[in-house]
Amino acid sequence: MIQIQGLTKIYRKSQPPAVKNVTLEINQGEIMGFAGLNGAGKSTTIRIVSGIIFPTSGKVLVNGHDIVREKVEASKHIGWVPELPNFEPNGKAIPLLKYYAGFYGIGPREAEEKAEMLLKKFNVWEARKRPLKDYSQGMKKRFSIAAAMIGDPDNFLFDETLNGLDPEGVKNMRDFMLSLKKDGKAVFLSSHILSELENVADRIAIIRRGELIKVIDRSELGSLGKSSVKITLHNSDSKVSGILEEFGSVEINGNVVYIRDLNIPQAENYRITEALFGAGYRVISITTESEGLEEYFLQLVGEGK
Ligand SMILES: Nc1ncnc2c1ncn2[C@@H]1O[C@H](COP(=O)(O)OP(=O)(O)O)[C@@H](O)[C@H]1O
Ligand SMILES: [Mg+2]
Repeated sequence: MIQIQGLTKIYRKSQPPAVKNVTLEINQGEIMGFAGLNGAGKSTTIRIVSGIIFPTSGKVLVNGHDIVREKVEASKHIGWVPELPNFEPNGKAIPLLKYYAGFYGIGPREAEEKAEMLLKKFNVWEARKRPLKDYSQGMKKRFSIAAAMIGDPDNFLFDETLNGLDPEGVKNMRDFMLSLKKDGKAVFLSSHILSELENVADRIAIIRRGELIKVIDRSELGSLGKSSVKITLHNSDSKVSGILEEFGSVEINGNVVYIRDLNIPQAENYRITEALFGAGYRVISITTESEGLEEYFLQLVGEGK
């Protein structure tokens, strides 16, 4: 379990905080998405949770251990996959994994077996004799995941791990994260693309300019992604509801009618106009209010006020 409490990070006094008073809990068996534009403060938050940089104020507890004051104990329960994994360039996969394993108190023989299992699982086995500097970015990422798993920690931090993968890679990675969830792990996964998190996260925390502005539950995501339509009629009355209810949930406000949670594709909006016309109503205008999850997200985190 990861408890982030009032976390603030100021890199330079002359600049606004990179992370500002963020409070969030990620429970065992939960995948928490962490969405925000580039520069919003995702990596900073994740790096503080991983223990690699210090907060300016606030704290992080990992399985109850303070990441600053009990760093060694807290770190044992964390597996971190950085955005751009960086390893000792001349290092080789097996010795490195064994070295990390030592940190978790795993003996050399068990470490060797685990290293082999993980390198095979993440498709790095064939490259094990090459130095890490010769790995492609994708291989480095997969090796980094193997490294994060070597100590079988309870909590995982994935920074933009789905980013830049091909569709098959995205699917494999999602399946992998769901398997971690099934094993009761707490998973914290960042992305600057909200829809990347849509099919995997239980909740999505949205950060904007260092501040957590919203935590969305998975059950809310479906309706956020859907469009709504605004219709202005020349003459409206209560019978409009009955005519339009097949398209979504109808809300009438004078001559303006909203259909939310639209259940037809936007391209078929003409059906709405036809239905109204057929019943004798005159449509002055019909506009789509939002066009899906990503649009909603950009509105939420956008540079507007
Ligand atoms: N080491 C650093 N020194 C100074 N500023 C930094 C440093 N790392 C990140 N920042 C700044 O902190 C803010 C948040 O960055 P970051 O956490 O990397 O965002 P994200 O991962 O969401 O893209 C940005 O304005 C970035 O420029
Ligand atoms: Mg980042």
